[in-house]
Amino acid sequence: MAKKDSHLPISGSIKARGGIYEVLYHAEQLALKANLLNLNDDYSKLNSDEFRTFFSQYSIAVGSTGNLGLSIGIMSAKLGFDVTVHMSADARQWKKDKLRSHGVTVVEYQQDYGIAVQEGRKAALKNPNCFFIDDENSKTLFLGYAVAGERLKQQLTQQGVIVDQTHPLFVYLPCGVGGGPGGVAFGLKMAFGDNVHCIFAEPTHSPCMLLGVATGLHDEISVQDIGIDNVTAADGLAVGRASGFVGRAMQRLLDGFYTLDDQTMYNLLGMLNQSESLKLEPSALAGMLGPVLVHSHSDYIDLHQFTEQQLQNANHIVWGTGGGMVPVEEMQKYLSKASA
Ligand SMILES: Cc1ncc(COP(=O)(O)O)c(C=O)c1O
Repeated sequence: MAKKDSHLPISGSIKARGGIYEVLYHAEQLALKANLLNLNDDYSKLNSDEFRTFFSQYSIAVGSTGNLGLSIGIMSAKLGFDVTVHMSADARQWKKDKLRSHGVTVVEYQQDYGIAVQEGRKAALKNPNCFFIDDENSKTLFLGYAVAGERLKQQLTQQGVIVDQTHPLFVYLPCGVGGGPGGVAFGLKMAFGDNVHCIFAEPTHSPCMLLGVATGLHDEISVQDIGIDNVTAADGLAVGRASGFVGRAMQRLLDGFYTLDDQTMYNLLGMLNQSESLKLEPSALAGMLGPVLVHSHSDYIDLHQFTEQQLQNANHIVWGTGGGMVPVEEMQKYLSKASA
């Protein structure tokens, strides 16, 4: 099965979950503090000119490889905030164009995600009315992602899919800085406990979470420190240093990590389009190799003592983290890179 976060409304990616939640939460807190909102009010009033005028006194900033910026930028602009997105070199041009068309200020960097976040944070500190949404450390973002656990549980119940000890659920999540997959995995563990097995997938050139967790150094080490360049076609996963908060919180709740190269992601992108007419962006294909790896790695199967029957009963969910809003001509370029 595929979980199509790629087709979530507003920004078409996993980042819609945390990003939109954090913007709404921040707006709610400001409005409550100013006595403009009451907990019992109809919250649709936040979407009004009166509130837009109020929110226009405040700024929001974020650093992003693209999709978090889209989520936070579009939502913040809609509510009237003055919003700036600091984009790393990996961010696609169409994402920047889209943000600008919504009135968002986009600052472009020639460097990677780490620098975009660092510079964004610095700029935000200069303005006391500016709230910096911190992809590496925000618990609010994390909780926004985590809601996916209960949502998925409801969906599986509706579809009659059983998850229990004899019917394990395997979930494969593409990982960048870690907030999105970490939050979703946290929510899944809350919903399914030991019966869900979460595995993170990273590009061979950006295995930051694997590196941080395996060394125990978390955010004190980057892939560049060990000579890996953090250059990948999976722009959403092009992160050299993982979130220390997520790594420390999640390391014992995850089953494992694997890496895959860009060409494999392109090939999977082409295969998925051919077999299911489902078009995703390269980052979102990282999880697609997971079921093959689980079934072919006897050491992993032995470690968890999965029985033949459990493996036969198992369900596998690949988290399709983005791509629903990729323009047609961009998608054609991706598809042309898939080997037939
Ligand atoms: C499509 C896609 N998948 C996965 C991720 C990974 O999320 P995170 O950086 O929170 O680990 C991102 C991040 O931007 C993304 O854009």
